Amino acid sequence: MIKIAPSILSADFANLGRDIDALTEWNADWIHFDVMDGHFVPNLTFGPPVCAAVRPRTKLPIDVHLMVDEPSRFVPWFQKAGADSITIHVEAERHLHRALQQIREGGCKAGVVLNPGTPAIAAKEVLPYCDLVLVMSVNPGFGGQTFIPESLEKIAELRRMIDDRGLTTDIQVDGGINPETAERCIDAGATVLVAGSAVFHAADPKDMIRQLRCGR
Ligand code: DX5
Ligand code: ZN
Repeated sequence: MIKIAPSILSADFANLGRDIDALTEWNADWIHFDVMDGHFVPNLTFGPPVCAAVRPRTKLPIDVHLMVDEPSRFVPWFQKAGADSITIHVEAERHLHRALQQIREGGCKAGVVLNPGTPAIAAKEVLPYCDLVLVMSVNPGFGGQTFIPESLEKIAELRRMIDDRGLTTDIQVDGGINPETAERCIDAGATVLVAGSAVFHAADPKDMIRQLRCGR
């Protein structure tokens, strides 16, 4: 079953509650929550107080993608704010192994994120500690960018690593997802697709989410 995680980075922030409500009506699976610190990535977004405000508004899992330096500093904040899963960049965390355990011990699903320039092998040692691995298919920082096609080989490589070890880790893909790139990612082995602009800028977002599942 393919899961669709719309990124609220592309929502209307002046009507965030309305857009959060709509995601349930549109049959989204998770809410993708992009946190940026202006250091690890050039942009700034939102933090724990916004996550805490969204929490009582929806039953959908909140999937926090931390694009911040030393993300382990913020893990307890987001756990208190009601996150269901937390993903951290391998490029940003010195003690990845410890940080992933910290996330799980706090009751959340844990995952690592790989930038486009980071090879799949960077996730190898920590795979047993991950509920998901997120492949960035654009450089993180902004919505609305074009899918990087080399991401497909990385997804396929992770799929082999996960299957060879008999793990059930989800492979999530984030950036430039539309019905066409979605199908290629699913064929390569992805199980969770993040989509910002494709969903929120669609004339019919509910139908777009249906299309992104590619009938799978
Ligand atoms: C990029 C974020 C993405 C982004 C995806 O740094 O991590 O989640 O919002 O946006 P689209 O789907 O528009 O590429
Ligand atoms: Zn993201």
